[in-house]
Amino acid sequence: MAHLEPASTAATAEAQSAVMIRVSNLKKSFQSGDELVEALRGVDLEIERGSCTFIVGPSGSGKSTLLYLLGALDEPSSGEISIEGQTVTAMSETDRDHFRRSRIGFVFQQFNLIPNLDAVGNVLLPFIPTGLNRTLRNKAVGLLEDVGLGHRLRHRPSRLSGGQQQRVAIARALVKDPAILLADEPTGNLDHKGADEIFEILRREQRVHGRTLVVVTHDRRFIREGDRVIEILDGKIVA
Ligand SMILES: Nc1ncnc2c1ncn2[C@@H]1O[C@H](COP(=O)(O)OP(=O)(O)OP(=O)(O)O)[C@@H](O)[C@H]1O
Ligand SMILES: [Mg+2]
Repeated sequence: MAHLEPASTAATAEAQSAVMIRVSNLKKSFQSGDELVEALRGVDLEIERGSCTFIVGPSGSGKSTLLYLLGALDEPSSGEISIEGQTVTAMSETDRDHFRRSRIGFVFQQFNLIPNLDAVGNVLLPFIPTGLNRTLRNKAVGLLEDVGLGHRLRHRPSRLSGGQQQRVAIARALVKDPAILLADEPTGNLDHKGADEIFEILRREQRVHGRTLVVVTHDRRFIREGDRVIEILDGKIVA
């Protein structure tokens, strides 16, 4: 006789399955003055654990909107997102915040560093609410060394190059050891060489540490065989 699995068993099964992120019929609208902007118009998507996915498409097509929703930084107008079998879109704001902080690392085009904190302080930022200690400090230093900034630990952002600032931002995104790493145009403000270095680090995090990587970019030269490329146009996936 068939029997229904309890929801918790289903969630556990999905937590171990290949699907990391599942998106169904995701919509997001913004009210802009008198106009209703439909930034996402029904997106369905599955992203595999440990994979590398690029989101491409013209300006205004909805790439950042999708990435922010995947990262639980914003709420959709309708539709569902589940990550590791947990329905993020059904969580309370507190649970969602907690989930995001523990499972997701974010890297932005503008680095978003705090000007009056040095590199170590910026990496430790996610821990300030819960308190710092020597173990965490050592971890921050280790991560900065991993991204090639062992000689810039006490530098504030204004004394770092763009590429170095973005490496601090990546170290900060990694400090909680996230399963998912999301990046919105991470090399948009960098020169060729700086961009290459950033992608090398992001790739290493995917390959060596098995993180699920999702990157919004205009720059297709970083796409490699085996990567998934999702093209968005006018709020819909077209390829
Ligand atoms: N907070 C907001 N308020 C109003 N409209 C918004 C808001 N955020 C995004 N939009 C609109 O939603 C649409 C999609 O924006 P989004 O930022 O996702 O595009 P994008 O593909 O990331 O573009 P770009 O390549 O320029 O970064 C655009 O028309 C944009 O103007
Ligand atoms: Mg964008």
